[in-house]
Amino acid sequence: MNRRIAVLVSGSGSNLQALLDAEDLGGDVVAVLSDRPGVLALERAARAGVPSAVVAPADHADRELWGKALAEAIAAFEPDLLVLAGFMRILPAAIVQRWPTINVHPSLLPAFPGAHAVDEALAWGVKLTGCTVHYVDEQVDHGPIIFQAAVAVEEGDDRDRLHARIREHEHRLLPAAVRLHCSDRLQVVGRTVRILP
Ligand code: GRF
Repeated sequence: MNRRIAVLVSGSGSNLQALLDAEDLGGDVVAVLSDRPGVLALERAARAGVPSAVVAPADHADRELWGKALAEAIAAFEPDLLVLAGFMRILPAAIVQRWPTINVHPSLLPAFPGAHAVDEALAWGVKLTGCTVHYVDEQVDHGPIIFQAAVAVEEGDDRDRLHARIREHEHRLLPAAVRLHCSDRLQVVGRTVRILP
């Protein structure tokens, strides 16, 4: 049976779009949750006929209450899997513990965790960066790695140009990881993710 996937977003949602467009995912995107109103990702959800909800920190007294509201909003869609597709907040531990969660990050982790990975890679002068698709644990950008792809930094790159080339790989690797997860072909052994035949 197809898995129920909830996608968490904060921005443009191009990775959400890649999931919506993917064939044979083994799962259906049943909900999109955003921490910000008015973002393009919500429009993409509406266009695809996927229900969405906004749970904004500004509407809650503190992080704990926001986390509870987010968990309730997610639970209402009864997902089997969460995907963080450009979700720019640290997920409350209670959510990480409750649902398997996959994140996509625009660097070769463990280099450049956090919200400014592309800028930091450029500032560091690395020649190679890329993207990482990984399971989420309770630490930021830390869990077992499913896929990585390397992207060469080119002369004259700025954040947008480099990020655009990184995104091309994300749009391929995120659906591929979700597909494997949904067919129970990812086995986590310590920090290592094995792909089962
Ligand atoms: C991606 O680069 C992802 O790795 C990072 O945020 C960006 C989201 O892009 N976490 P989009 O909203 O999917 O276009």
